[in-house]
Amino acid sequence: MVVRGMGAVGRAILAPMSGVTDVGMREAAYRFGVGLAVSEMVASDHFVAGDEEARLRAERTSRGRYVVQLAGCQAHWMGEAARLAEAQGADLVDINMGCPAKRVTGGWAGSALMRDLDHATALIRAVVAATSRPVSVKMRLGWDVGSIVAPELARRAEAEGAALIVVHGRTRAQFYDGRADWSAVRAVRQATSLPLVVNGDCAGAGDARAMVEASGADAVMVGRACVGAPWLAGEIDAALRGAPAPARTPSDEAEAARGHVLSLVARMGERRGLRHARKHLAAYSAKSGAPAALREAIVREEDATRALALLDRAFVGVEAAAA
Ligand SMILES: Cc1cc2nc3c(=O)[nH]c(=O)nc-3n(C[C@H](O)[C@H](O)[C@H](O)COP(=O)(O)O)c2cc1C
Repeated sequence: MVVRGMGAVGRAILAPMSGVTDVGMREAAYRFGVGLAVSEMVASDHFVAGDEEARLRAERTSRGRYVVQLAGCQAHWMGEAARLAEAQGADLVDINMGCPAKRVTGGWAGSALMRDLDHATALIRAVVAATSRPVSVKMRLGWDVGSIVAPELARRAEAEGAALIVVHGRTRAQFYDGRADWSAVRAVRQATSLPLVVNGDCAGAGDARAMVEASGADAVMVGRACVGAPWLAGEIDAALRGAPAPARTPSDEAEAARGHVLSLVARMGERRGLRHARKHLAAYSAKSGAPAALREAIVREEDATRALALLDRAFVGVEAAAA
């Protein structure tokens, strides 16, 4: 897929996930060849204010392209945040118009913007005007089944100068229930000539092919299936490009997981970093196929060095058993 102002960006994107796609996870995904990895959403006003948590959420990766996702509902802050993202080196600025969380929609950000297309359009306009970098808009199908406005929002985004559209095939009312409707994204394909990304329930290369086929999209975005498996997005990317799956051993996975957890500990300190890493440790150890007792020990460990030694044992034990 080619994005204006960026060139070829591959055919799979690691989805933005709050509390999950920290800089270490995005780096792990890039290491295994994903085209783009989006930061956790960052509240535009907090980002501009230099808030420490916002800074961490949007931290730049040391490899791959730098994609910052902005959330907010005020054109002023969205524009200022886009300017700051560009100053920090962002290659792409993404706007969150899909988050269903009450905390976010209550402030009229995220998917609530799909209930007021004029306001949503004004935010896109402000962000596009504030940065010379390409701008993407991530949305759901609409607020509920009675208001499927993604095609209209995509059309407006294109008219305002956006460069890329991402659609999660669910409505806001669905939250994460049911199945994503990939074929419903086809109406967006017909509404815009911008590069289009389909998202929702991609578990692997087979799903990715079916998603592209059903929607007519150019690429897929993968979220939850990459937790504990940041290599999956690169694998899907290769499959959609018709390239061989990148070679990977359990030791490569262990090294990536270790680097990810260490990056959290380095940034947040041992206690906080390990607490933040717990969901990742649980997911990595589950994906490693380690026995339940070892997985539990990994998640409970309060010493980072010991937790990492146990995680190594989880991955390498599987490798030894396979040898
Ligand atoms: C824990 C979690 C956090 C998320 N945070 C964000 C976010 O910050 N910004 C956003 O646009 N979407 C967010 N999402 C939605 C995902 O980007 C994606 O659209 C959704 O999970 C569907 O894709 P999947 O089925 O591949 O996970 C989040 C999803 C999860 C599960």
